[in-house]
Amino acid sequence: MSDKIFIFDTTLRDGEQSPGASMNMQEKFRLAQQLVKLRVDVIEAGFPVASRGDFDCVKNIADNLVGVQVAGLARCHRKDIETAWEALKGGDNPRIHTFLATSDIHLRHKLRMSRDQMLELAVDSVKFAAGFTSNVEFSAEDASRSDLDFVCQVFTAVIDAGATVLNFPDTTGYAMPDEYGEQIRYLMAHIPNIHRAMLSVHCHNDLGLAVANSLAAIAAGARQVECTVNGLGERAGNTAMEEVVMALRTRAAMVGVHTDVVTEHIYPTSRMVSTITGMPVQPNKAIVGANAFAHESGIHQDGMLKERTTYEIMNPKDIGLSKGNLVLGKHSGRHALKDRVETLGYTLTDEELGRVFERFKGLADRKKEMFDEDLEAILMDEVLRISETYQLLSLGVMSGSRTLPTAAVQLMINGQAVEASAIGVGPIDACFRAIAQLTATTSRLLYFAVSSITGGTDAQGEVMVRIEDDGKVVVGQGADPDIITAAAKAYLNGLNRLVYLKKESARPQ
Ligand code: KIV
Ligand code: ZN
Repeated sequence: MSDKIFIFDTTLRDGEQSPGASMNMQEKFRLAQQLVKLRVDVIEAGFPVASRGDFDCVKNIADNLVGVQVAGLARCHRKDIETAWEALKGGDNPRIHTFLATSDIHLRHKLRMSRDQMLELAVDSVKFAAGFTSNVEFSAEDASRSDLDFVCQVFTAVIDAGATVLNFPDTTGYAMPDEYGEQIRYLMAHIPNIHRAMLSVHCHNDLGLAVANSLAAIAAGARQVECTVNGLGERAGNTAMEEVVMALRTRAAMVGVHTDVVTEHIYPTSRMVSTITGMPVQPNKAIVGANAFAHESGIHQDGMLKERTTYEIMNPKDIGLSKGNLVLGKHSGRHALKDRVETLGYTLTDEELGRVFERFKGLADRKKEMFDEDLEAILMDEVLRISETYQLLSLGVMSGSRTLPTAAVQLMINGQAVEASAIGVGPIDACFRAIAQLTATTSRLLYFAVSSITGGTDAQGEVMVRIEDDGKVVVGQGADPDIITAAAKAYLNGLNRLVYLKKESARPQ
């Protein structure tokens, strides 16, 4: 049997550090449930000491999910480690993940610490964490730019102190694949007690090399890969889970290792992450991009018609891709809808299914054909929405080439119906002005994009906005066959997220 590569998913922690990608507790829990279905080995659910919200999210996931190790991040501070354990302790073999930088750049400029002080603090912290659990991971932040003999010294000492997983991050995405592989080989050869622990890698994508570096590290002996769905993460992101997993599966004979990931859940998971975070996947993205299995040239299409493997190295079914499938029609029943919803990765309560069914029927009456993407837009609206301070009751717009664009908006705000009208440069501007007036928001609209969810003139329009208030950036999304209504929903969704974030940061720690 080939060696197993452990998949440590950090979408909920490092992934959430993508600007604008913040997720609320309900969204994080949904995604964590999906990651369990995907059969990742470890879910890094957050950084419990960072905020009360992060603590609650980690605790909720650790307390309620089985069949996965839940990890919580902690700096090498006793308070961080205690708080992480408090959040994690209800879980199934939970992991404390503590970290401290080893590079001279970080030691000198950020930590203002000597190497000896760093070593002492790392050992102390790991010992402290090991007092709570035997599942302790230690990360040497900025390891790839550190003196390797010093990293070996630190890793040897923290293994003796109780760490069972040692992570060697390329924090700044600086390493080259050959170099990173060599670094891992060096660690394997120069850490005398390495047989008592597992080497892990965590790569950032600043040079577009995160996946290549992770694969080079596996070839050199690393057995855990830290990654995120769609490659989300700080700056240019992290190693994309779907790319590493499918590279290992597609080239299994060459690499001689495997993961336990159920690859058929990859595509639904990717869709769920982009839907929840509002971070679209670029069309030419490997594995999960809209064009990843599209064949445009005549020669390629001809080859595909004769034999799929002429131009496809993976079967789209292996990642759960059913794109373009006409899923359901207006005569489909509740049972068929429930089945489809589950295939997309959602487990709904009866009450949620009822709401989704109503919306589905309403849309199916107006629209000829219903696709997975239509259903996802409804799920986003009905199930993943955070509790709404502002709700759209009605919207009327006048517009045209000879009309001054005017919008009349009625909202429910904290149980009270209010209305306002405004004029604008265009109908969306008018509508946003009316909403801004009613909500008294001071936020700035940073980005606005509209796209069609499927083909056809009856397709639902999907609007994504990014708004900023007081340094907080959020994404809002809305979908509707009427794009002005979709825009209003997206704007209100963003404003609701800002309210949620403000409430979260005002909660006592
Ligand atoms: O990039 C990094 O070094 C990290 C560590 C906290 C593991 O995210
Ligand atoms: Zn990172």
